[in-house]
This record gives sequence, structure tokens and C-alpha cells, in this order.
Amino acid sequence: MQRTLIAEALAADNPCGDITLCGWVRTRRDLAECSFIELNDGSSLSGMQCVVEHGSAAYAALGAANTGAALQVRGALVPSPGKGQRWEVQAGAITIFGLADPQIYPLQKKRHSDEFLRTIAHLRVRTNKYGAAFRLRSQAARAVHDFFHERRFVLVHTPVLTGADCEGGGEMFSVTGPAGNEDGRRGEFFHRPCHLTVSGQLEAEALAMGLGRVYTFGPAFRAENSNTARHAAEFWMIEPEMAFADLRDIMELGEGLICHVIDHVLACCRDDLRLFDAFVDKGLVERLAGMAAKPFARASYAEAVRILEDCGKNFVYPVVFGMDLQTEHERYLAEEHFHRPVIVYDYPRETKAFYMRANDDNETVAAMDILVPRVGELVGGSQREERLERLTARIAELGRNPDDYWWYLDLRRFGSAPHAGFGLGFERLLMLLTGIGNIRDVLPFPRTPGSLEF
Ligand code: 4AD
Ligand code: MG
Repeated sequence: MQRTLIAEALAADNPCGDITLCGWVRTRRDLAECSFIELNDGSSLSGMQCVVEHGSAAYAALGAANTGAALQVRGALVPSPGKGQRWEVQAGAITIFGLADPQIYPLQKKRHSDEFLRTIAHLRVRTNKYGAAFRLRSQAARAVHDFFHERRFVLVHTPVLTGADCEGGGEMFSVTGPAGNEDGRRGEFFHRPCHLTVSGQLEAEALAMGLGRVYTFGPAFRAENSNTARHAAEFWMIEPEMAFADLRDIMELGEGLICHVIDHVLACCRDDLRLFDAFVDKGLVERLAGMAAKPFARASYAEAVRILEDCGKNFVYPVVFGMDLQTEHERYLAEEHFHRPVIVYDYPRETKAFYMRANDDNETVAAMDILVPRVGELVGGSQREERLERLTARIAELGRNPDDYWWYLDLRRFGSAPHAGFGLGFERLLMLLTGIGNIRDVLPFPRTPGSLEF
């Protein structure tokens, strides 16, 4: 079907005698001599105003079409005498594809709550806010790929079905094979237990130990029963892994990635960001520009704990050295103490996963988290333990069987080398970029405990 995208028509340099647009009616206003249709096709925040003269063939075709109806409008692109838009379309012919009964169409002209819109996730993308959120999501993903390709990282696709537990949190979904198989023999399909991956890291490490620099960008699954605004059961993670690299290298890489994506959306999503700035999070654009312009702060875990102990704030979870930092602590550090993102490094080994490289003090590991305002932890990464004996001992110490990790340990047997990587939660990055406060609202079809409707 030949048509011009509304985004392209709005950006036209000259009037144009004949143009075909398709889209959904956002609003219809009927005046004495004509009707105004605001048509939106998802290509931009702004729609195109279409003017339909009463008595014309187009008007007859328009009939009772109202908000939500899908139409094709053919006509002339002309300068608009009205305020707020440069062009409008004088409708010459209209074709209706599908009507939407105004009595039952769930999207009314008023503002709906995010909670209500989650119950109609199949339709909410037709609102300004969610259209903007998913366009921005697309641009952010593109910026991620550009960033890595410019640095010669190889995109790798790690498996979704896995037998390995990467993080060791016991938060994995198990996969039981053919539906309807109720004989209780779980894992039979693969002759061993199978899970949805929590992270592609272990496989990415193997690929990095041959390709040098790799990254994955795919879904990860966590059965954490935590109903928070920043946890989803299915989310997308970006995981770079670099051979011949240490903790400092991935701190720089993580900071560079975040700033690159911010710069890209500031340049390419101006209209959509203006909407978030006006209706979701005042001052967002200025804050993002400031964030990308200034180096992130850095603090060791020990320094971070000292700051938290001395700050005089009453936290729900009191801070003691050795604990895992909670969101309230992470947010305090980024929002109230450093007033910008902060990279916290050298965490106590007991709070972190088995694969992280032991520091010489034997108490901490070469881990780093990037904490950002409003979100808390955005990135978690580490230098990996490349010493075979240390890694084998750590796995055994945690009560696991090193034989289960035979191929992962092989990477340390054959040509082991220092290497490091991180995971960045893509939805948390989108929360930072849009100011949207709930992870459910940056995912098109969020999966959270008790919620699997769509
Ligand atoms: O800190 P995490 O658990 O690290 C890993 O999985 C490592 N294997 C990554 C690596 O080194 N390759 O998770 C990484 C990031 C977190 O910082 C957070 O942004 C995001 O993934 N994340 C979640 N996002 C949404 N919902 C959840 N349930 C998340 N769990 C983690
Ligand atoms: Mg983490």
C-alpha cells in the first residue's frame, strides 16, 4: 500500500498536491463547514490535521468514523492556517479500514492512569505517552548497537534455554518440555534440568575468549517474587564481554555506553522527550544532558558504606559493612550525595556471584555496579576470575559441583586471560531516559508476578 508516513509529511519542505496517509483517528472535531480529523500513524508524536469539507465525497466516506477508527486519507498537503502545525491535509478521498465503536472503545479523550492502561496493553500504544515510549525504546536499542559496532564488538546470540545457573540466586524459571506432559519427569526433553536464562554471561565469556570483544542484547528471565517498580520477570539485558580487559576497562565502557545512548536520544527523540519532560518528569531533558556531559562519580564499596553511615538518614535497611546495598541506598548515593551516576566497585565477595575475580584482600571482588538517579542499579559487572584453582575452589566452597562447570572451567584451562564484562538492564535504562517510574510502563507487554495476560 503506497503511503507517506505522517512523520515524513510533517517534515516536508514544500506543499504537495497529492499525498496518501494512513492512520488512526485520535480526535474528531465537527464544525459548521468542515470536520477536523487528527490522524496518527505511530511514526511521530504529532499527528496530521486532516480537513474534511462538509458535503464533499470525503465527508460522505468519513461517515461516523470517530476516535480509534483506521483510515486512509488522500489529499493535498497545504500550509495550515491554524496554530500549532505547519501543514495540514485537505482531504480529497477517505477510505475507512475499520471503525471503533465510541461506546466501547476503551481510550477516551481524557487522560488515563498508567494502571488502567496496563490492563489494555494491546491498545495503550495508541496514546501519546506509550507511542513515545516505544519509539524511544527503538532508538535506544539502535544506539546500543551503534555503540558496540563502532568499537568492533561482535554481536553474539546466547541461548535462552540453559542448563547453567549464572547468578546463583535460585531465581530461574524451569522449562518442562512438551505441554501436557504431566508425568513429573522434568527436564526429560534435554535429559537434564532446563531453565530460561537469567544471563547470557557464561556463554558470552566463552565467545569472548575467541572473538575478543562480544556483546549480547536479548531477553533474560528472573523468577524473583518481588513486586517492585524495577523488577520484571522478563527483561532485556545488554551484556558486553571483553577479553584482555580489567575492571577499569568495563567501568569506562559502561559509562561510555550510557552517555552514548543519552546523546543519541537527545538528538533523535526530541519531540518524544519533550512529552516526557512536560508530563512525566519535569526537567528530564536538562538532567539527561547534564548527566552525559560530566564524568560519573566513582567510589569503592567501603567508601559508599561510610557515606551512607555518616549521612544521618534513616534507612529502612540500616547500613552495615558487608551487606548488599538496597535500592534506597543506591538512590541516596546517586541522587542526594553525588547528584549524578556513581560507579561503586570492590564489593564484599559474599554479596556477589561466584565468577567474580577475588581481590588481593581476599574479602572483596573486582565487581562494579553503576547506580543512577531515580533507578538505582542500572549496571552490574565484574572482572572474571581467570585463575583455575581460585575459581574451582570458589565453586566448591559455595557447595556446588565443579564438574557441572566443566566447560566454563575449560576456559581457564586453555589459554585463560584476564577478562571482564557487565550486564545493563535495558528497561532500567529506559526508565532513566523517559523518567517513567515503573518498569511495567517501558515494556510493551510486561511480565511480572501474577501478570501474563497478553
Ligand atoms: O546485576 P545482574 O544480576 O548481573 C548479571 O546478570 C551479570 N551476569 C551480568 C554480566 O556481568 N554479564 O543484572 C544485570 C542488570 C542489573 O544491573 C539490572 O539493571 C538488570 O540487569 N536487572 C533487571 N532488570 C529488570 N528486572 C529484573 N528482574 C532485573 N534483574 C536484573
Ligand atoms: Mg546486580
